[in-house]
Amino acid sequence: MRLVETKAALRALLDADRRNGKRVGFVPTMGYLHEGHAGLIRAARAECDVVVVSIFVNPLQFGANEDLGAYPRDLDRDLAVCKAEGADYVLHPTVDEMYGKDSTLRITVGPIGDVLCGASRPGHFDGVATVVAKLFNIAGPCRAYFGEKDAQQLVVIRRLADTLDFPVEIVGCATVREPDGLAMSSRNTYLKEDERTAAAVLSRALFEARDAIERQGERDGAKVARLIAERISSEPLATLDYAACVNPHTLEDVSEITGRVLLAAAARIGNARLIDNTTATAPAAPSGG
Ligand code: PAJ
Repeated sequence: MRLVETKAALRALLDADRRNGKRVGFVPTMGYLHEGHAGLIRAARAECDVVVVSIFVNPLQFGANEDLGAYPRDLDRDLAVCKAEGADYVLHPTVDEMYGKDSTLRITVGPIGDVLCGASRPGHFDGVATVVAKLFNIAGPCRAYFGEKDAQQLVVIRRLADTLDFPVEIVGCATVREPDGLAMSSRNTYLKEDERTAAAVLSRALFEARDAIERQGERDGAKVARLIAERISSEPLATLDYAACVNPHTLEDVSEITGRVLLAAAARIGNARLIDNTTATAPAAPSGG
C-alpha cells in the first residue's frame, strides 16, 4: 500500500492504472476509520482492480461553531485499517495541498442542501459537494463508494455526479451498526458511557417508525415523523434536532405514504451531533375485486 500526499502523484498513478485496463474504486473519508468505512473499502476491493482511500478532514464542510478542531484523527491507525482491507493507495493531502491559496469558490447544491441536516448546518453540503467534486477530478473515472448512513449526503453526491457529468459511478453501501443498533460514526468517540447507552434511542426510534409503516399500516407521514421525534425526546440525554419522513430522492416531506420513504433523524447527545436514517416501504394496497 502506498501513502500519497499530493494530488498530482495520485492522478499519475491512477492514470497509469487505467491505461493498463484497471478499474478504479474510490472511498473518500475524513479518517478515524471504523467498520462502516471498512465496509466501503471491502466493497471497493471486491468490485475493482485498484482501491484508493482518501483521508482528508475538509474544513469547508464544518460551520464556525462546529467540531473541526476536535474532529478525531489517527493516521497510523487509519493506514493500518486501509492496509488490512487491501487498499492500494491512501491519499492524505494537507489543507494547503487540497485547496491552495484560493478556497472561496463553492459548489452550491441548492434546496436539497437546505433541509434536514442542512437546516442546522448552513453551507455544510456546499462544502461536501465542493470537496467531493475536487476528489472526483483528482481520482478520474472510477466507482466511488459512499455510506447510506449519510443519506442526505448520498443524495447530494448522486445529484452532483449527475448534474456535472462526472465519469464516476456512485455506489451506496448499507449502514454498519453496533450490536445495540447505534450507527457507527467517528463522532461516537465523543460520547461518555451513559451517553453512549442513550444514543441507541436514534436507531430504536427509526426502526419503530419503520415497523409502524410496514407492520401496522401507518400511512400518515407527519404522524410518523412525530412518532420518531417523541421517542427521541423521551431520552433525557438527547436533544432532538429533527425527525422527518421524506421522499428518498427529493428529500421533500411525505404526507401520505404510498411507496418507499426515508425516515431520518438527528439529535445532540453530550458533545456529539448524531444522525441516523432508515427506509421503509408501504406494502402495496391489496387490489380490489
Ligand atoms: P466520513 O464521515 O469519514 O465518512 C466517509 C464515508 O463513510 C461516507 O460515505 C459515510 O457515509 C460512510 N460511513 C460512515 N459511517 C458509516 C456507517 N456506519 N456505515 C456505512 N457507511 C458509513 O462523509 C464524509 O466522511 C465526508 O463528508 C466526505 C464524503 C469524505 C467528504 O468530506
